[in-house]
Amino acid sequence: MADQKVTVKDIQQAKVEGRKLVMITAYDYPFGLMADEAGVDIVLVGDSLGMVVMGLDGTVAVTMENMIHHIQAVMRGCKHPLVVGDMPFMSYNTSIRDAIINAGRLMKEGGCDTIKLEGGVDFAPTVGAIVKAGIPVQGHIGLTPQTASALGGFKMQGKDAAAAKKIIDDAKALEDVGVFSIIIEAVPAPLAQLVAEAVSVPVIGIGAGADVDGQVLVTHDMIGLFDKFIPKFVKQYTKIRPIILEALKAYGEEVREASFPGPEHSFSMPEEALVQLKKMITD
Ligand code: KIV
Repeated sequence: MADQKVTVKDIQQAKVEGRKLVMITAYDYPFGLMADEAGVDIVLVGDSLGMVVMGLDGTVAVTMENMIHHIQAVMRGCKHPLVVGDMPFMSYNTSIRDAIINAGRLMKEGGCDTIKLEGGVDFAPTVGAIVKAGIPVQGHIGLTPQTASALGGFKMQGKDAAAAKKIIDDAKALEDVGVFSIIIEAVPAPLAQLVAEAVSVPVIGIGAGADVDGQVLVTHDMIGLFDKFIPKFVKQYTKIRPIILEALKAYGEEVREASFPGPEHSFSMPEEALVQLKKMITD
């Protein structure tokens, strides 16, 4: 899929063909390049950058300016995957007009292809208005990190039948107003499967089991770069942090004992020029 630019239509077609979608997050140019080279279908510049890049406790304090800055960097490296820009908390919650303006800013100033926002039935009118303005929207239901405190923390959602039914209703409401796909986070696997069966748009899971139309993970979690907190649903495909730490420590030791830089990392000067220079500064 990733030899050409991935489009919203390609994402929708994947569900029709039963092809699983691969989505990861990226926040800067090097990871944008690597996501591109790895051939993922969708790259999310998520507001999770608040935690894994900015060192905040959650996503609430992330601003439009933070998002635009990181989306621009990712876009410079990411040429083939569809890039989704995450709408930060309070950029779409105050009014439909604000939501359209801010969604437009992520695309015009950041350069992303589509946007994502959190919420189901309650935000369907907002999502519908953004879609009508010509901006493709990805929904996000189940655990919605921006409102985690109202949901009782970063906990699995849809545990009992009534809560699970509400999540199915959320998905249907988003489908009705035209989302091109839906992220479903931290729900029981059987519920996620029912959601994926209930709507025609691709449902991409994170902590939602295997029976959905694709998977998304926060890259810094799955490569072990951010290990302050590892959710149950994260598989660490590598542990990169200790490798980086080892390199930083080795560099520090070599600088302190003056074994770096060696001749192979230094520039030389013709002997004659050096003799001349020394003469010039001593005369
Ligand atoms: O911000 C983010 O990274 C997300 C993912 C958890 C889907 O919303």
